[in-house]
Amino acid sequence: MINTIYVLNGPNLNLLGTREPDIYGSETLDDIAGMLEDRGRELGLEIDLRQSNHEGHLVDWLHEAQAEGAKAVLLNAAAFTHTSIALLDAIRAISTPVIEVHLSDPTTREEFRHISYVGMAATETVQGLGAKGYLVALDAAARL
Ligand code: DQA
Repeated sequence: MINTIYVLNGPNLNLLGTREPDIYGSETLDDIAGMLEDRGRELGLEIDLRQSNHEGHLVDWLHEAQAEGAKAVLLNAAAFTHTSIALLDAIRAISTPVIEVHLSDPTTREEFRHISYVGMAATETVQGLGAKGYLVALDAAARL
């Protein structure tokens, strides 16, 4: 559906709120879902937020976003960002725009986080803004 935004979250993001809060903040993924739904209502957009610790689920959901005619995908692929050629290929394989999101700014952290396979194919990247970054990305998706 053209008014739906898929918000796909990768490994360990189910633990947001208690996971390294000094880096990722204290909001849970449910808190983020609530924020996105409120803003989505204002924008006339439906939010479909999912999380998986499994790479293939994210690949399948990217394909599904295209098959279902989603307007855009917000993708925080977490650690798969830095490893997954499968996600890079999946983003390239679909025409649905994908906006990369990270709570932290991986480019200022350990060197192994500096490469982003997702970023090689994403329409744009929002990072380092904490949970608010998801809202910034949703606003960007609304403008597409
Ligand atoms: C993250 C950054 C990644 O480097 C890390 O592996 C994560 C979360 C972020 O949102 O800041 O799990 O994507």
